[in-house]
Amino acid sequence: MRFEGGALLLLDQTALPAEERWLRLTRADEVADAIRRLAVRGAPAIGLAAAYGLVLAARDGSGSSSLRERVHAAADLLAATRPTAVNLRWALDRALESFEAALPSGEEAAGRALAECAHSLAAAQLRQDRRIGEHGAQLFAAGHRVLTHCNAGALATGGAGTAGAVLAAAWEGGRLAHVWVDETRPLLQGARLTAWELGRAGIPYEIVPDSAAGALMARGLVDAVVVGADRIAANGDVANKIGTYGVAALAARHDIPFYVAAPLSTVDPATAAGAAIPIEERSADEVTTVRGMRMAPAGAAAFNPAFDVTPNELVTAIVTEAGVLRAPMRSALADALGAATSPVA
Ligand code: MRU
Repeated sequence: MRFEGGALLLLDQTALPAEERWLRLTRADEVADAIRRLAVRGAPAIGLAAAYGLVLAARDGSGSSSLRERVHAAADLLAATRPTAVNLRWALDRALESFEAALPSGEEAAGRALAECAHSLAAAQLRQDRRIGEHGAQLFAAGHRVLTHCNAGALATGGAGTAGAVLAAAWEGGRLAHVWVDETRPLLQGARLTAWELGRAGIPYEIVPDSAAGALMARGLVDAVVVGADRIAANGDVANKIGTYGVAALAARHDIPFYVAAPLSTVDPATAAGAAIPIEERSADEVTTVRGMRMAPAGAAAFNPAFDVTPNELVTAIVTEAGVLRAPMRSALADALGAATSPVA
């Protein structure tokens, strides 16, 4: 993700790995569309894209509405694109706070404040990802074979990733031998995106069907699991890509540590427990077709929840930029949030 020449440049994740196609977006509604159709995806990355969407809205003087109306309308549009990842609302709120604080100094100052906020959120994400990687790598040891689900790498944060940063730092530190990559049905974020990233980093991996996780664990082939998160409730329940809960339950059954890597911006203190996290339901076509090819009978019904919730008792630790948090998770999360000096530190 880059902001250049008045446009947001995004590597189109729907085209990967076949094609490295960059999108050049100049309007907030184009950013909203890119988030909705997963051209940009992953909790922190959609937050950053949305923050840049507000910068574009402020610069788009084509309509008759005032700057303030334009920016707030764009924030509403962007916030409604995906309901589960709290980073989206979090980043928009940070950007709107900067905007409102600067508005009394004039429209130019307010537009500048939006751009400065988006850039500082992006820079903070880079720093946080690096720290998450450093903390998380300490949890692994030489020879470890680690299973991951979905994509929580650089593509998902605009930085180094969360679970992806942990895997990269562990590999560099000689604490990782192999990654099992869940293909991650229905949209194959594992097979398409995580495999693409690990291949570029030279980290040994094999893609496995999602349904293979239990069999791998039963055969003693998995030493740890690490995944990202879209929202972490105040009690430590974790919403992440559909299928994560099943992996966590299997890991518990086999006494395998299950780690979640996420920045503190993914923690939502306003949501008491996982049951209150809104779960996005996407089109049935994503289940009944694969890359446009129909797999199910015409007219077949399908239910497509994009995320599930892993209860906190199945989570061994949450790796944040502030360190590795363990049970009791409610107080560990509250302490970490309380100690964070600045929302974009
Ligand atoms: O629907 P997606 O592909 O946006 O879902 C993404 C995930 O579930 C990731 O694991 C999560 O956002 C963490 S990204 C660092």
